[in-house]
Amino acid sequence: MDTKVIAVAGKGGVGKTSLAASMVKVLVSELPDKKILAIDADPAVGLSTALGIDVEMTVDDIRKEVVANAEEGNARAAVELLGEARYRIFDALAEQDGFSFLAVGRPEAAGCYCKVNSYLKEVIRILAGNFDYIVIDGEAGIEQINRRVMEKVTHLLLVTDSSRKGTQVVQTIRRVAKELVMYEKTGVILNRLPDPGVTAYMDLGGLPVLAQIPADPSLAEFDLKGENIFYLAEDAAIVQGAREALENIGII
Ligand SMILES: Nc1ncnc2c1ncn2[C@@H]1O[C@H](COP(=O)(O)OP(=O)(O)O)[C@@H](O)[C@H]1O
Ligand SMILES: [Mg+2]
Repeated sequence: MDTKVIAVAGKGGVGKTSLAASMVKVLVSELPDKKILAIDADPAVGLSTALGIDVEMTVDDIRKEVVANAEEGNARAAVELLGEARYRIFDALAEQDGFSFLAVGRPEAAGCYCKVNSYLKEVIRILAGNFDYIVIDGEAGIEQINRRVMEKVTHLLLVTDSSRKGTQVVQTIRRVAKELVMYEKTGVILNRLPDPGVTAYMDLGGLPVLAQIPADPSLAEFDLKGENIFYLAEDAAIVQGAREALENIGII
């Protein structure tokens, strides 16, 4: 299957989760016959909340089961065992109206997130053959790119606000991704711009701009009330921006 794996990456707080949720919304309405999977790959958790999903089982829960079942408790052997426990991954998918959902989970123990990242990488590999489109809401920053978790990503969507730090993180991710991610296409989404004029001051290192999104009062209101982003209006700025980005990168 020619699966399109779309990852949303960037600094914390720039709108990755809001955009990932909006993209799932757009894909579900544009491509009702396709199999779509949304993955919340952020241990800080976001996409499940944004899409109003009750998470019952996570990749980290599966990791714990597999480790408990591995005789040696050896991490390397345990990752290999995951292939045999692949049916557990399918059990962990939460079936929504029009798409499936999987959360990486939040490991309690400090320092064990790198282990779950290697599971996540394996899980993406296993699931890729079963879906047409996968949208991954990534962890903030560069870690998951560095650890090759995003290796299978075909469309790398970088998100920044107008801050210098935001554009710097975008450039760092792009630089590292060039070596470690097999992406076909990449580009940047400029989110929450105070004014369209600010783009003149932003150094994007020549990356194509996929969408420019102003502050979206309806998103702010949904966030305040904890409402499901799926129910945002089609003409909400964030939904329009998500659609524009998917069009400009050749997904829809
Ligand atoms: N265009 C926008 N207009 C208004 N609020 C926004 C916009 N984009 C994001 N936000 C708000 O900013 C905060 C961070 O967004 P979020 O999507 O969680 O970012 P990230 O996943 O990158 O940390 C949230 O409260 C979200 O509602
Ligand atoms: Mg987030």
